[in-house]
Amino acid sequence: MKIPFGDLSRQYKKYKKEFDHIVSEVLANGSFILSEHLLSFETNFANYLGSKFAVGVGSATEALFLALKAIGIKDKDEVITVANTAVPTVSAIDFAGATPVFVDIKKDTYNIDPESIKNRITSKTKVLMPVHLYGNPCDMGKIMQIAHDCNLKVIEDCAQAHGAEYKGKKVGTFGDFGAFSFYPSKNLGANGDAGMLVTDSEELAKKIKLLRNYGFEDRYKSILRGFNSRLDEIQAAFLDFKLTKLDEWNLRRKQIAKRYMNELSKLPIILPSYPSDNKHVFHLFVIRVSQRKKFMNFLSREGISTIIHYPVPIHLQPAYEYLNYEKKDLPVTEKLAKEIVSIPIFPDLEDREVEYIIKSIKKFYN
Ligand SMILES: Cc1ncc(COP(=O)(O)O)c(C=O)c1O
Repeated sequence: MKIPFGDLSRQYKKYKKEFDHIVSEVLANGSFILSEHLLSFETNFANYLGSKFAVGVGSATEALFLALKAIGIKDKDEVITVANTAVPTVSAIDFAGATPVFVDIKKDTYNIDPESIKNRITSKTKVLMPVHLYGNPCDMGKIMQIAHDCNLKVIEDCAQAHGAEYKGKKVGTFGDFGAFSFYPSKNLGANGDAGMLVTDSEELAKKIKLLRNYGFEDRYKSILRGFNSRLDEIQAAFLDFKLTKLDEWNLRRKQIAKRYMNELSKLPIILPSYPSDNKHVFHLFVIRVSQRKKFMNFLSREGISTIIHYPVPIHLQPAYEYLNYEKKDLPVTEKLAKEIVSIPIFPDLEDREVEYIIKSIKKFYN
C-alpha cells in the first residue's frame, strides 16, 4: 500500500461538483478582489470563532506581519515566541523590524512555556506570540495573565489550529489578534494561498483593512502607509464552502488520532499529550521515537510517508544566526527536534490506511 502524507486530490474527487461550480460562478461574476465572497467568508469565519471582526489577507505570514505593524511595532522592539515553529512565525517578526526572542517549550505539550516567558521580558518586549502548534492550544490562561501584568500585546499564531479550543473558547479569540493560515494542507485550507486576522477591536480591524490595500480609505486615497495583502474571491468562495465542513473534518482527524493513541500506547513511542479540557484539532500527529531515521526508513519501505515538523529549530537556522543563539540555549526544543516525526493524519485518510499504518509501526517494534 502507498500512503501519502496528505492528498488533496481526494477532497476534489469528493466535492468536484461544488468546487467546479465555485470557480465558474466567480469567473462568470467577474469580481475577483475584495468583493462579496470575501465579505461573506469574513463574516462566517468571525462567527465561527466567536470573534467580532475577521479580515482576509494573503497568508498567515502576512497576517502576523500586518498584525505587528497595526499595533505599531517599532525597530528593535522584542517579540517573544518559540523556536519550535514553522519558519514564517519568525519571518513575520523579522520583516516587521522587531527582534524575535525565543523561549523554551513545555516538555509535555511542546508549546510555549509560560514560566520561561517571564524570564525573558525586558523593557523592549512588546508582544507575546504563542503558536498553537500541531493544533494543540497553548496555555492561554497563563499567557494572558502575563500579558496583562506586563502590559504586552498578544498575537496568536493559529496557522495550525482552526477550531481548536482552550477551556471551551476558540483559539485566536484570546489575544489582540489571531492569525490563521489557509495554506492548502491546513485544517481549513484554500486551493492556493490565503490568510486571516481576527480581532475584537474595531480600530485594529479597520487598520488591517487599510494596511492590506495600500492604505486606501477610498480608491486612490491612501491615508496609511500600506501594502498589498488581499484574499482573492475564488479562494474566499472555496473557503466559505469548506468552512461548513471544518467541524466534520476536525472530528475525523480526532477519530484517527484516537485510534493512534489507543493502538500505539503500548509501544516505546511518546504520544501527543494535552490537557483534557483543551480541544486539540490534530493538524499533525507528532510522535517521538528514539531511532528516528531507522523508523522513517522502515515506514518508507512500507509505503508510508512521514515528515519532521520541524527538524531544525529556528534559533539554529542559518538565516537567524544574527540573533546569536547557540546550541543548548533551548534544551527542550533541541531535544524534541531530534526525536519528533509526524505520521499521516488528514480527513480523507481511510480507515484501512490508518490500520495499515498502525500495523506497520507495530511491525517495526516487533
Ligand atoms: C505555525 C505556522 N505559522 C505560520 C505559518 C505561515 O502560514 P502561510 O503559509 O499561510 O504564510 C505556517 C504555515 O506553514 C505555520 O505552520
